[in-house]
Order: sequence, then structure tokens, then C-alpha cells
Amino acid sequence: MNDVLEAVRFEDGVLQYLDQRLLPGEIRYEPARNCEEIVGAIASLAVRGAPCIGVFAAYGIAVLRSREIDDDAFAAAADRVRSARPTAVNLAWAVDRVRASDDMLAEALAIHAEQRSIDAAIGENGIALFSKGARVLTHCNTGPLATAGYGTALGVLIAAQRAGLAPHVLVDETRPLLQGARLTYLECRRAGLDATLQVDAAAAISMARGRVDAVIVGADRIARNGDTANKIGTYNLAILAAHHNIPFYVAAPRSTFDFALASGAEIPIEERAPSEVTSLGGRLVAPEDAVVFNPAFDVTPGHLVAAFITEYGILRPPYGESIAGLAGRPHWSALLHSESTRA
Ligand code: MRU
Repeated sequence: MNDVLEAVRFEDGVLQYLDQRLLPGEIRYEPARNCEEIVGAIASLAVRGAPCIGVFAAYGIAVLRSREIDDDAFAAAADRVRSARPTAVNLAWAVDRVRASDDMLAEALAIHAEQRSIDAAIGENGIALFSKGARVLTHCNTGPLATAGYGTALGVLIAAQRAGLAPHVLVDETRPLLQGARLTYLECRRAGLDATLQVDAAAAISMARGRVDAVIVGADRIARNGDTANKIGTYNLAILAAHHNIPFYVAAPRSTFDFALASGAEIPIEERAPSEVTSLGGRLVAPEDAVVFNPAFDVTPGHLVAAFITEYGILRPPYGESIAGLAGRPHWSALLHSESTRA
């Protein structure tokens, strides 16, 4: 996969990220050398996608530890990174894991390497759900840019393409920040996937006209009952899919499941700046002082999810049981060289 855009790099002791805000127009890497730059990259969505911000933050914590000799100052900086965005649990998970290790850089490198292997397993497990030529609707961006690996939901479709299944991807543009139009469509091109771009509001007519065989999305946090936080508009799609009798799949690594939460009601939902909605490409598209509601995520009830595609296998309802089973699985790295990784 030579044409995969690398979201995060750690080279010669320097942490770098691809500034995703500039895509698809420009490919530019920036260094993240201190707390301001690390937190800024995450909060501004220059680095984004649940697993990707986890990988980036893992390196970021190692960088901060190497710069900061004072334990209190390090702890304060690490806490700031941990809370740079509230919804994706991968961020806190990765920060906690690195902080608890003796060799923080080695742990960050392990998290990154594991993400690639986890993504590969999600792709392999997911292709069984799709027949040749399936037309699959996706939302937001869940490809390599969103995981620093091979992708989750889009990773499944890329794996299906490589397996000769030639899926057709219907790409929601994903207002307000256009991750679908800017990033997913680009990644489809680079992966050789046949794709059509549509505005988010076209999902209903596409389904009504029989142009959608399945929906697949990623996730930012999944509760024990299967309630799933993902990019705003995902819940709309799940309802539409149920209405049209179309399977709705969620692809996510185990690190996106928050086993501490009984339901999605407990998931913190990030609300972002009004300017993301009132302007587009630096131009006003609404009165500047418009009163705006701009949640970055919504929560899809677990009962609308046909299956979760994880690195350990496919989880089916009842999710109370299958997600509890996932919670009990051994750490991925312990399984990498063992015989069976299936759920
Ligand atoms: O605000 P973003 O761009 O970070 O939102 C990303 C999403 O909602 C993705 O669907 C999710 O993180 C899954 S990434 C594999």
C-alpha cells in the first residue's frame, strides 16, 4: 500500500503529523515538539480520527517526558494532552497506557505497530460481510488517516478491494468539516476504490432508490450495551438504514470500547466552535453571529447496529454478552503470535 498517506511519523527523534486540515490540496508535515503543538494539533483536527489521536498522543507523551524533568510539570502537560478532545476514548486509553510504562517511547512505538496489525485484522474480519460489488455507504473518515494504520470502516472496504470484491463506496461529505469529501474520497482514490460523493442529506434518497447494500462507519467510543458515539450524522444514517432494512455496521478496535460505561448516555459529546458551521473555506455561509449548535458526534443506539467488526472478530447482538466477551479477551500483543484471535 505505497500510496497510503501516513498520518503520524516518528523519525530521528522527531514527532511529525500530516496536517489534515490542508487536504486534499496540500500534503504538509509539521513537527509536534511541545505540549502546545501536540494539544493544538489534536484540538484543531490537524490530527484526527479516534485511533490516530491515540497513536499521536502516545508519541506526544513520550516526547513530553523526554523534555520535562519535573514530574509535576510532566503530569500537567500529559493531562492536557489526555483531555485535548473528550469523546474518543482511544486518546485517554493511549495516554494512560504510555504513562504507566517504564519505557514510554517503546510503548508508543508498540501502540503504533499494534494499530497497524489491529487494522489489518479488522479488514480481514470485515470482508466476510460484503458480497462482490456491494454498494456501501460510509460517513466521516475512517481510513489510514484516521488510524495511523490501514483504517477501520474504510479499511474493511480497502481490504475488500484488495480481495477482488470491488465494492462501490458512497461517501457522505460529512458537514461541517467535510472529512468525507476531503479525506475519504481522497483515500478511496489512492486505494483504487470506486467511489461516489454525496451530500449528507442525500443518504435517504440513495437508500430509497436501492443504491445502498450496507452502511459501515467507525466509532469514537462504544458503551457496554453497543451504544456508539461517532461523527455527527451517524445516528441519522442508522435510523435511515433501519427504515430501509439495510445492515448498519460499526468497525472499531477494542481500544474504542469503553467497558466502564453502561450506555451511551454517559459518553461526553464534544461541542465545537460556531465558526465551523457559519463559515466554509474562510467564507461566511451564515450570519456571523448566528446561534449555532455544533456537536461533533452523536450516539447511535446499540439496537440499530447489525454487527461490530473488531480485530477479535465480528460481534453480534445481544451486545451485553458479546461486548462483555470482548472485555475479557487477552491483550492484542499477547495474541499476535498465538494461533487464534477470533471472538
Ligand atoms: O472529528 P473527527 O474527524 O476526529 O471524527 C472522526 C470520526 O468520527 C471517525 O468516524 C471515528 O473517529 C472513527 S476513526 C477510525
